[in-house]
Amino acid sequence: MRLFNFLSSDRSENLFLPAHGRGNALPKKIKKLLKLKPGIWDLPELFEIGGPLISEGAIAESQKSSAYQAGVDRCWYGVNGATGLLQSSLLALARPGQAVLMPRNIHKSCVQACLFGGLIPLLFDVPYLTDRGHASVFDSKWLKRVLKKAKELKEDIAAVVLVNPTYQGYSADMESLIKEIHAHSLPVLVDEAHGAYFISQIRPDLPKSAISYGADLVVHSLHKSAPGLVQSAVLWSQGEKVDPFKINRSIELLQTSSPSSLLLASCESSIKELFESQGLKKLKSRIEEAELLKDFLINKKVPLLENSDPLRIILHTSRFGLSGIEVDKRFISNGIIGELAEPGTLTFCLGLSSHNKLGKRFVGIWNEILTTLGKQKSCFFKKPPFRIVSKPCKPCSYSWGSDFETVNLQNAIGRISVEMVCPYPPGIPLLIPGEILDEARVDWLIEQKCFWPEQISDFIRVLLD
Ligand SMILES: Cc1ncc(COP(=O)(O)O)c(C=O)c1O
Repeated sequence: MRLFNFLSSDRSENLFLPAHGRGNALPKKIKKLLKLKPGIWDLPELFEIGGPLISEGAIAESQKSSAYQAGVDRCWYGVNGATGLLQSSLLALARPGQAVLMPRNIHKSCVQACLFGGLIPLLFDVPYLTDRGHASVFDSKWLKRVLKKAKELKEDIAAVVLVNPTYQGYSADMESLIKEIHAHSLPVLVDEAHGAYFISQIRPDLPKSAISYGADLVVHSLHKSAPGLVQSAVLWSQGEKVDPFKINRSIELLQTSSPSSLLLASCESSIKELFESQGLKKLKSRIEEAELLKDFLINKKVPLLENSDPLRIILHTSRFGLSGIEVDKRFISNGIIGELAEPGTLTFCLGLSSHNKLGKRFVGIWNEILTTLGKQKSCFFKKPPFRIVSKPCKPCSYSWGSDFETVNLQNAIGRISVEMVCPYPPGIPLLIPGEILDEARVDWLIEQKCFWPEQISDFIRVLLD
């Protein structure tokens, strides 16, 4: 009952994902479909329809047309979010025993792929913004240092994964990063879950998709950064470095044998919106509206942080000594639901629907929070104790599957974790199976526990000695 009640009411201001904002920005064709007889669109892989892995039928045709519009060789629609397609990509890129170089702010789905694919995650450190407590982007100089260190570990590196933009909308100079990786003859997979609409190249001052810089594989979450239904996603591929047969095979391994035709239709229509005039017009006006809103908030002294995505607003709560998680609760009780509450910030996703009366209401709530919770001194966060590149002390999959005991975090020094510690959102692991809990990591996790009291436990499961 509770679920149905929630699903059928729409009383709050939705500044969370999916980006279609409770249906407001769904493509016209999907809205029309959903108005037909309930369930008429719920079909299996009939001959006429086909599926993401079938070479004939409507889906095959649609995928070809989308790939053509994006200027790549092929694409696959996905019905298990960016998660499913990132995992399939990794299994296509590396075989068991090979290593994949990934940033510390990687989404947990990629670590999970290493876990069940027997891959070695080589995690590299990324710049950390101590004034707000989350990761930033890096440049090619940073990456050069990472690649040099990674080579010293003497693992058989099969690929590099990059995350761009970040959840909060920071974007790196992808051209130079991809060039650097290709100079080492390695393929690159870009997790562009939060940057699908960059493919539209709607304005020269906005970031471009990694596709335009020659990334071999790019994954978009179509519900996070395009007007797709939840779970819709797409994987784009170009060039000769990754064999499409291997991608097909890996998708087949993870995909349901009954992909939803509604979700596949949503993949098609949300991608079309990113290329065709009506969708582009809508996107352009949303971006302009978002920029006006940001200007208004900044003029009213709301502490926003700069980023590269106009559709994401980062409220800098730690600037006034406040936790984004506490501030989020206050916004929710005032009817505004944000997306990503972190210890030092609260990120709102404007998505693709209109929020034209939001400014004054937002300022009112923020000022009330400041008055009641009190303006305090800015707080700063300690940099995580990560090495520039590190490899789990024991294989990730072995640790995950091994017998364990549960110990108090304080007593875990020197032990090896069998679990992932990962507040969600953002879904970025603070610790992965197989990593050793040295003193610095334990201290840092205990500190993180204070920041994420409901998400990090006092206890941790570790390998039996
Ligand atoms: C950077 C990043 N990649 C991938 C994903 C997974 O996306 P999806 O929910 O479409 O599976 C997320 C989800 O939060 C994410 O933040």
